[in-house]
Amino acid sequence: MFSQEEGQELVFRKNIKEAAERIRNTKAVVLTGSGISVASGIMPFRGKGGLWEKYDPEEMASIHTFRRNPRAAWVMHKEIYDVVKEALPNPAHLSLARMEAMGYISSIITQNVDGLHQKAGSKTVIEFHGNIIKLICLDCSKLYPAVEIDLGSLPPLCPACKGVLKPDAVFFGEPIPREALDRSQEEVQQCQVMLVVGTSAVVEPVASLPRLAKNRGADIIEINPQPSQLTSSVTTLFLQGKAEEVLPKVLEELN
Ligand code: APR
Repeated sequence: MFSQEEGQELVFRKNIKEAAERIRNTKAVVLTGSGISVASGIMPFRGKGGLWEKYDPEEMASIHTFRRNPRAAWVMHKEIYDVVKEALPNPAHLSLARMEAMGYISSIITQNVDGLHQKAGSKTVIEFHGNIIKLICLDCSKLYPAVEIDLGSLPPLCPACKGVLKPDAVFFGEPIPREALDRSQEEVQQCQVMLVVGTSAVVEPVASLPRLAKNRGADIIEINPQPSQLTSSVTTLFLQGKAEEVLPKVLEELN
């Protein structure tokens, strides 16, 4: 008879095959969160070692506090930026880029602001929370590549009008970019399979996207080392594991 581990391994392998079968006949929409970038050295927001254990999101990632005290918020943002600018895509990002090239993915809707899906070669990426690769001036709205701005003195000021520059990510209290919202809705309305990777699914309106897809009859395949808000009520196939280990196995099955 099989040991408990062997039994779990067999179930895991069966689920990988099943996930590949469901993806094979369609173009999946992928929804990613910070968990997919953990293997690239970027810490997640929640859970052990998460950013929100160290910083208060209301203090550091809200547009209201940023306007009041940009210097304090920039201390955290520079810490994140210094990690992100060196970060490289990991096997999870690379597997999704390969799956897109093979015709199995329609788009990636990402909550991440690290630009790693694009660095991995993914072409259709919808950045739901913007990204920190660009900085935007709070006064004249001019955009600058972050690499061109000296972050030696904080907060960085707009070369054109001396206004305070802000990472072009969506802060709490700011609207989701209109185009990202519209394109995500379109994708959710037409998908037969949604692959949800590395998100706790607690932040709206992103967290509703899998539910919308499920209510339309789509399969929701979730990859996460632990259950999320979706797992018990929305997820149809739960691949419990790390994205950087599971996605290459799904790709192998599709090859
Ligand atoms: N592979 C897959 N998932 C992982 C991995 C991994 N290697 N490591 C951790 N995870 C999972 C965690 O179990 C958790 O469910 O990734 C998820 C990370 O959750 P959060 O830190 O809450 O990140 P996310 O869901 O992207 O947060 C959503 O909250 O603070 C805002 O704007 C911020 O975009 C962010 C949003």
